[in-house]
Amino acid sequence: MIGVFDSGFGGLTVLKELRQKLASYDFVYLGDNARSPYGNRSFDTILEYTRQAVDFLFAQGCELVILACNTASARALRSLQQNWLPQVAPQKRILGVIRPLSEDLGAWSKSAKIGILGTSGTVKSQSYPLELAKFWPGVQVFQQACPLLVPLIENGEVSGPGAEYFVRKYTQQLMAQAPQIDVVALACTHYPLLLPLFRDNLASHIKIVEQGPLIATKTQDYLRRHPEIEQKLTQNGKCIYYTTDESQAFDSGAADFLGSQIKSSQVSLG
Ligand code: DGL
Repeated sequence: MIGVFDSGFGGLTVLKELRQKLASYDFVYLGDNARSPYGNRSFDTILEYTRQAVDFLFAQGCELVILACNTASARALRSLQQNWLPQVAPQKRILGVIRPLSEDLGAWSKSAKIGILGTSGTVKSQSYPLELAKFWPGVQVFQQACPLLVPLIENGEVSGPGAEYFVRKYTQQLMAQAPQIDVVALACTHYPLLLPLFRDNLASHIKIVEQGPLIATKTQDYLRRHPEIEQKLTQNGKCIYYTTDESQAFDSGAADFLGSQIKSSQVSLG
C-alpha cells in the first residue's frame, strides 16, 4: 500500500489528488491529529513524531510512505532517509513534498520572485530557498510563516472573520517583502482549504500553487520509474484511515477536506 502521512487533516488535500490519479492503488492515511500542529514544535520532536508515524505505516504494510506535510518533510525526511530507513527497512521508500514542488515552481514566475507561505517550522528550515536554488538559481524566494492557519483549519475555521483576518495579514506581510512576487506557493498541505481567501487577498495576476495535484503527478511518475516499488503495491482502489485522536471528530473534519464520508480508526503512536 501507499502510506500518506500528515500531522492532521492537511494531507487529505494530497490524498484526494493521489486517489484520483492513482485510483487503482490502495492507500493508508494517518493523521497525527492528537499532536497537531507540528509547525511550531522543535526539530527533534517533529523528527521523532514523524519516525513513529512512518514506523506505524510500514507496520500496516506500506512499501512507500509520502510525507504529505511540509513541516515533516522539512524537518524529518532527510534524517529518516539517511539514518533510519537503511537500518529498519532498506527496501521501503519515504518521499516528501518539498522537492517535487521546488522542481516546478520556478517555471511559472516571470519576475523570478516567488513567495512561500508555510508553517514556522517549514520557513525556519530554509528548505524551500535551498531546494529552489538548486533548480532555479536565478529565482529570489520570499517566505512568510503563517503560524495560526493550521490551528484555525484543524478547528474547522476555514471561513469567517478569524481566517479572513490572518490570511489578509500573512499575504500582506509576504507581498510587502517584494511586490513583484507573481507566484505564491501554498507550502503547507492544510492551506488549500483557505484557497478562496488567498485568492481574494492576492492580485489576480499572481499564480497560487497548491501541492496536491503536483504530488499526484510526480508520484505517478515516480512509480513509473521505480517498478521495483510499484510491483509491490496492491491495487484494490481502497483507502484505510487512521487518526491519533478521536475517530468521530476525524471523520467529520475529513468530510470537509474530501467532500465525502469516511470511517477512521483511532491509533496511538510511540
Ligand atoms: N500540513 C502540514 C504542512 O504541510 C501542517 C504542519 C503542522 O502541523 O503545523 O506543513
